[in-house]
Amino acid sequence: MPGCCASDYRRFFNRKFAAADLRRYRRRGLSETERDLVALAGDLRGASVLEVGGGIGALQLELLDAGAARATNVELSAGYEDAAAELLGGRDVDRRVGDFVVDDTTPHDVVVMHRVVCCYPDVDALVGKGAANAQRRLLLTYPRERWFIRLGLRAVNAFLALRRCGFRAYVHPVARIVAAADAQGLRLERRVTHSLWESAAFSR
Ligand SMILES: C[S@@+](CC[C@H](N)C(=O)[O-])C[C@H]1O[C@@H](n2cnc3c(N)ncnc32)[C@H](O)[C@@H]1O
Repeated sequence: MPGCCASDYRRFFNRKFAAADLRRYRRRGLSETERDLVALAGDLRGASVLEVGGGIGALQLELLDAGAARATNVELSAGYEDAAAELLGGRDVDRRVGDFVVDDTTPHDVVVMHRVVCCYPDVDALVGKGAANAQRRLLLTYPRERWFIRLGLRAVNAFLALRRCGFRAYVHPVARIVAAADAQGLRLERRVTHSLWESAAFSR
């Protein structure tokens, strides 16, 4: 991770951030783009799900409720674990703290990354590994390539630099995302577009 390390992720995505996510989920449920991913997942009966950067685990919980047999979460920041334990209770979720791109992983039926591509510098490695681990489907939500989104993230990154935090947010080219999935044998199947975010389903 050039210019960034796990401690920067822990600093940004900390326990306070996670507690706010948990309160938001309990008040309002899944966000619009998370609901898109549940719909794009299709028939989940008996499926194993791997979520990368799944935060507090709300999406995993709803994918399990939709029929998935078990879920694994690989998350760079340990800051979510208390909130995740509170939310997930005894559900069948294997929570791991680490960098998905670097750590050993095993293939799953469905791989999910909701708003994670924008939080990692190497889009080819992240999407490529996600695709390689997806036996059936890869589900992604990433920011659209719009000038005002780039401007907004530039402001966020300037603020982070001032705070001496190495974490940065990115608008990666969608063509690179599609090419990285394609190189692992996955084809773009469906896209759902909103003003800021786009969700996409890739299938084998
Ligand atoms: C914007 S947050 C999104 C969290 C959650 N998916 C959501 O939408 O609420 C991005 C998350 O991705 C995690 N992340 C980024 N790159 C990662 C990687 N290579 N491996 C594991 N987690 C990663 C970050 O630590 C962060 O928690």
